[in-house]
Amino acid sequence: MIQAAPPTITMEPAAMLSKFERYPLTFGPTPIEKLSRLTAHLGGDIEIYAKREDCNSGLAFGGNKLRKLEYIVPDAIASNADTLVSIGGVQSNHTRMVAAVAAKIGMKCLLIQESWVPHEDAVYDRVGNILLSRIMGAETRLIDEGFDIGIRDSWTRALAEVTARGGRPYAIPAGASVHKFGGLGYVGFAEEVRAQERDMGFSFDYIIVCTVTGSTHAGMVVGFAADGRQRNVIGIDASCTPAQTRAQVLDIARNTSELIGGKPIAADDIVLNEDYAYPVYGVPSKQTVEAIRLSARLEGMITDPVYEGKSMQGMIDLVQRGFFPKGSRVLYAHLGGAPALNGYSYTFRNG
Ligand SMILES: Cc1ncc(COP(=O)(O)O)c(C=O)c1O
Repeated sequence: MIQAAPPTITMEPAAMLSKFERYPLTFGPTPIEKLSRLTAHLGGDIEIYAKREDCNSGLAFGGNKLRKLEYIVPDAIASNADTLVSIGGVQSNHTRMVAAVAAKIGMKCLLIQESWVPHEDAVYDRVGNILLSRIMGAETRLIDEGFDIGIRDSWTRALAEVTARGGRPYAIPAGASVHKFGGLGYVGFAEEVRAQERDMGFSFDYIIVCTVTGSTHAGMVVGFAADGRQRNVIGIDASCTPAQTRAQVLDIARNTSELIGGKPIAADDIVLNEDYAYPVYGVPSKQTVEAIRLSARLEGMITDPVYEGKSMQGMIDLVQRGFFPKGSRVLYAHLGGAPALNGYSYTFRNG
């Protein structure tokens, strides 16, 4: 296998992260756009913006995992690994991103794809994310185990198997979250938002983020703690196992803060709304489907039934229920995930 030489770093490394090596996988800072029609539709008192993490890279449609993987890849290369080994559900966006990164840096890729979603669609394991991972050359292994964001036997066994067959595995946990560098990428997100706020001449009152394995939310908490806004990061749980997700966010936030020499993180710094994950991980409620249609029809912005549709539903509902004080500016972090929609074509058969 030919491994790619690290590309030239084109973006100034964020100040809090300057001591960490970063392997660029993204285009650079992601755009922030005002969602004017959604803002008007919801009454105009709350200004809604989106930070387009879903458009962050040319690697297999991009998404939040690439920000995390930028800080993990240098460690993978330094370890002399030849195979990235990771895990997720059948339609995991994360495993798609690991497959793309493996291709980009010239490594092999073994993906454990568990049956996290009780969704019976005839082509669920043939389309969307898993299709893309297969095209990119990853070995995708379907395992009949239910949802759990923790460390799984199937993944541990896969790591041992790569070693047994003479390979050199590098372990990337679900969502790239419970990894010593998993939280760093979204610390960088906060630094990037601060720089964009300076340019725009205003700052955001709330940040909305979809939370499952936790390192996106955790990184933001650490990053925004630098200016005291950590409790303004509103996690919308999509795991439907919120106690485990909350504990994992707190753990990652504390470890990440310690790693970068940041502020201590309190349990109350983790704000996680549990109201929109129903009925279960990976299955959209009627309200989630309506939120997906609404943002698509007003903004041409595509969200998915597993993650972003639920955080979109949450944001819309919180605006409608008057959660945000009048005049607030809300930043919706759009973390990607649209390829999974292919597994839900029946839900949207009539639009
Ligand atoms: C599109 C999308 N949004 C949100 C999330 C949640 O991010 P995290 O797992 O870091 O909590 C994920 C991954 O799990 C995702 O793929």
